Amino acid sequence: MSSLKWIETKNYDELSEIASDLFEQQIKQKPTSVIGLATGSTPIGLYNRLVERNKAGILTFKDVTTFNLDEYVGIDPNNKASYHYFMNEHLIDHIDIKKENTYIPEGHINDLEKACHVYEEQIQKSGGIDLQVLGIGVNGHIGFNEPGTSFDSLTHIVELTQSTIEANQKYFDKPEDMPKSAITMGIKTILQARKIILLISGESKQDAFSRLRTGEITEDFPASSLHLHPDVTVIYSGVK
Ligand code: GLP
Repeated sequence: MSSLKWIETKNYDELSEIASDLFEQQIKQKPTSVIGLATGSTPIGLYNRLVERNKAGILTFKDVTTFNLDEYVGIDPNNKASYHYFMNEHLIDHIDIKKENTYIPEGHINDLEKACHVYEEQIQKSGGIDLQVLGIGVNGHIGFNEPGTSFDSLTHIVELTQSTIEANQKYFDKPEDMPKSAITMGIKTILQARKIILLISGESKQDAFSRLRTGEITEDFPASSLHLHPDVTVIYSGVK
């Protein structure tokens, strides 16, 4: 039975504020927290607030470890559209975290199978993810787990769907430069996190939001796997 906790917010600012409060609580309770991070436009407000709180001395990341959900395959970490670049720009370069404690899947190396295994091992070695933040794709993907992905999946390589390519092409100078595959934590990897926060913002996510609300659980809709987890908070704005 689904136990998702739903928090409706007035707007994107409030959504970001509540999410950053939950992050702050987690890190203050356990300074060595392992945090799972997401990219996309939705968590940017959260990351801005974490940077502000860190600069104001309210919150330290000095003993925190982070693991990102995903990265494109075959993209240089210095490419502005890479998730490595995104994380440095929006969070990592601006807080007091130790760079060696920030992990992002390595989509640019030759042995991608190995990169997947190594990533899983690194997560296990760290003690597992305490708090994972997620966004949602218009097709219900979480990380880059597209519809049809097994709920038993660990970190793996995925072929991106047309819907995801269309949604994300805007981040590339030339749309045709967008990679067609990615490396992502699997659904099982995500569900192993002790706590999960899902952020949903804006009209384009209305269909995905409504479908999640129904409580139906199906591999055709990856976010529905969250109904199987005991501690998920959904914070939303601009959808009903
Ligand atoms: C990408 C990422 C997801 C993210 C989704 C939504 O495809 N791989 O992790 O949740 O986009 O992005 P946005 O927040 O920009 O809508």
